[in-house]
Amino acid sequence: MNAGELEGLFREKFGKEGFRSFFAPGRINLIGEHTDYNGGHVFPCAITYGTYALAAKRTDRMVRMYSVNFSEKGIIECTLDELSYHTAHDWANYPKGMISYLKKTGYLIEEGLDLLFYGNIPNGAGLSSSASIEMVTGVMLQSLFALKIDRIELVKLGQIVENQYIGVNSGIMDQFAIGMGKKACGMLLDCQTLQFRYAPIQLEHHVIVIMNTNKRRVLAASKYNERRQECEDALKILQEKVPAQSLGELSLETFEKYETSIANEIVRKRARHAVSENERTIQALEALEKNDLYTFGELMNDSHRSLRDDYEVTGAELDALVEAAWEQNGVIGARMTGAGFGGCAIAIVERGSVGDFLDQVGQTYLAAVGCEASFYIADIGDGASEIELEVHI
Ligand code: GLA
Repeated sequence: MNAGELEGLFREKFGKEGFRSFFAPGRINLIGEHTDYNGGHVFPCAITYGTYALAAKRTDRMVRMYSVNFSEKGIIECTLDELSYHTAHDWANYPKGMISYLKKTGYLIEEGLDLLFYGNIPNGAGLSSSASIEMVTGVMLQSLFALKIDRIELVKLGQIVENQYIGVNSGIMDQFAIGMGKKACGMLLDCQTLQFRYAPIQLEHHVIVIMNTNKRRVLAASKYNERRQECEDALKILQEKVPAQSLGELSLETFEKYETSIANEIVRKRARHAVSENERTIQALEALEKNDLYTFGELMNDSHRSLRDDYEVTGAELDALVEAAWEQNGVIGARMTGAGFGGCAIAIVERGSVGDFLDQVGQTYLAAVGCEASFYIADIGDGASEIELEVHI
């Protein structure tokens, strides 16, 4: 879909010309998985795939929404006075949730909207298409209604919409990466304090390959919430021994001193992942800052093993893909990215080896799993903002 086609569709669907354009990226997480809701660190970056929104204000209170990706659903309508969640509204619940929560928080949105969305993030692949649509809606509303909202507040609001309106108890990482992303940089974020710093990712001779299992993420939300609960259970037990507000505050050494107090082995393993992954994330940034890509890659591999063995969120498809990647020449490291239970993995691969890498991993995966993987090269881009939609004639 190019800009001219999007512009034509806007005219066709809404019968008018004028609109403003916005973009929010998707994200990958380099390391630091399932640590955000445990008060630990994450190290994500925004990618150049994402969600476009074309938007124009109306003179009445109707909100009319159309997605190129869900064209079979047609235009979904509601009013500014009835913004509650409706299963039948499907994807449109994300923009509705943002409008609803901004209004609830006291921001004035008193005119309706015509909205056209188009996303080029593979859907349900764990690259945060949902947070992307939330954040593109957020920056669009902020600009069109001149809302005085700070970016971090918008990020937090996106998370609240996901937690309370959509009903997935996710952490802050996705909305943060998408709202705050910066070209060619990763972000080390302390999810307890929201302190963060940008870290340039200058790979030069390497690229980041995104590998999609093309496996639908079955029961991802309920299993996600279950892992969260297990970590909370572990924290409660550990708090009888150590004063900590989150698992992210514990060093691996402290954890190992008290872990036997957690009688349930599964709960103990979950906590071990949360604590060890947080340490790996901090070490990974140190390695990157020393330009030590090899240590960074090793930490990525350890992260995948921990997610596979202790957190148990990888599954056969992600394991097959990552294990195939580990076997290839020119691979620095590979791991699943995002929530897991299907979705995507990433690998850092030497530029000159990418062709062979794609062939080999593709074939091995197909033979092991019986379905094709898809591959994309990740470019690290900026966070959500208004854009000039260039129409190529
Ligand atoms: C999903 C959630 C994030 C984070 C990751 C796992 O992407 O939305 O908040 O918990 O899973 O790291």
